[in-house]
Amino acid sequence: MTTTEPTSLTLNELWASRVRGGIPSIGLAELASLPIPIDVATMTPGEVVSLRAENFDSVGFGIVDPESEVIWCYPADPEESFDERFFRKRVRQALALRKRLGLVGDESGYRLIHGEGDHLAGYQVDVYAQHVVIYSLSAALDSHVPGWAEVIGSELQPLSIISKVRPAGEVPTGKVPFRLEYGVEPPATLSVREDDLLYEVHLTGGINTGLFLDMRQVRRSLRPWLRGKSVLNLFSYTGSFSMLAVREGAKSITSVDFAQGVLEWTKANLALNEIPLSKNIRFDRDDVLEYVKVARRHDKMFDVVILDPPAKTTVPNKRWFMKSDYGRLIAHALKILSPGGLLVVAASSAVAKPEKLESQIREAGKETLRRLRLVDSPGLPSDFPTQMIHPAARHLKCLFLLADD
Ligand SMILES: C[S@@+](CC[C@H](N)C(=O)[O-])C[C@H]1O[C@@H](n2cnc3c(N)ncnc32)[C@H](O)[C@@H]1O
Repeated sequence: MTTTEPTSLTLNELWASRVRGGIPSIGLAELASLPIPIDVATMTPGEVVSLRAENFDSVGFGIVDPESEVIWCYPADPEESFDERFFRKRVRQALALRKRLGLVGDESGYRLIHGEGDHLAGYQVDVYAQHVVIYSLSAALDSHVPGWAEVIGSELQPLSIISKVRPAGEVPTGKVPFRLEYGVEPPATLSVREDDLLYEVHLTGGINTGLFLDMRQVRRSLRPWLRGKSVLNLFSYTGSFSMLAVREGAKSITSVDFAQGVLEWTKANLALNEIPLSKNIRFDRDDVLEYVKVARRHDKMFDVVILDPPAKTTVPNKRWFMKSDYGRLIAHALKILSPGGLLVVAASSAVAKPEKLESQIREAGKETLRRLRLVDSPGLPSDFPTQMIHPAARHLKCLFLLADD
């Protein structure tokens, strides 16, 4: 956090109003067109600038990030400084919202800070059963984290705070480095409660912890569709949808993922919830595109098919690109969906544009002669707020499609 007076950057009217409105960043290319251009090359990554309108009124602060080619923006009242009080105020606001939502508890998992949605662009803070993970979207932002972590520690008094750098757009695979910011290092595995289920999470492993907090609303919306049904969970990961299916009394549940580790993790999750393995709970270590083709050849049919793929797969000899492969997969899934069945199509990535996804679904319906009705479209839960000025940040799309009998 800065104590010296930051350099001022004068914005034109358009950018001043965007910063006031909560835009997360200004592209460095935009800076050339500003009334008094500044040369970011001369500035230190992570340096704080004061953002001003042409009449010199302060509209907020920025963090200079040449690597990401942006200045991250933080709207502020004119009398505010970019200091501990600034951050504390935003953390308190963020915490008050999560308390209002009933999310704060000893066992719960929730997002405490969702970037510019909580007026802290470039930072995400997740809480898992009193252990906190701070993600910064670049090394420049990371330089402020120790100060921020102190504030979060004093407001929340968690058991631990660790931080990780998560470059925007890319999800690094494998174990990623973390820094202990507060308390004692979290255990390698811990469990988080959501409704009537416990989920094992690993905070000190990769970027993904084992439970996607942003899918909470999808999980809740899915529950009523599962009783007595045969459920196929493709890209099953740690089995969150599979466990819901068991809890809700599905007839059978098949989890398909090509990673043996996550299938084992699913079994650990079932054990954590004292759900015994049975012949109705199946695991298939396979490539989903292969699985659906073979299932079709064997005339297998499912009442509920869940598709929740990553943007891309980077494992050698496997290929999955949401952009180019999703349409084909949806068509294959429709071929093994029972009459009256439910197809869940999720895309938790900026690469999937809602219109493109809908047109891929329409095409797949046409190709397979299936008529589909949209019956639900659960989205991000309320602990993932979006600035209206920046709707592109609403990364999750999910459609529940009911096939005709
Ligand atoms: C985004 S996660 C799925 C999240 C999961 N549906 C949930 O909500 O917990 C992606 C998963 O897809 C798996 N995966 C990626 N490409 C695959 C492929 N071509 N075939 C099978 N599994 C794949 C990965 O191993 C990973 O476990």
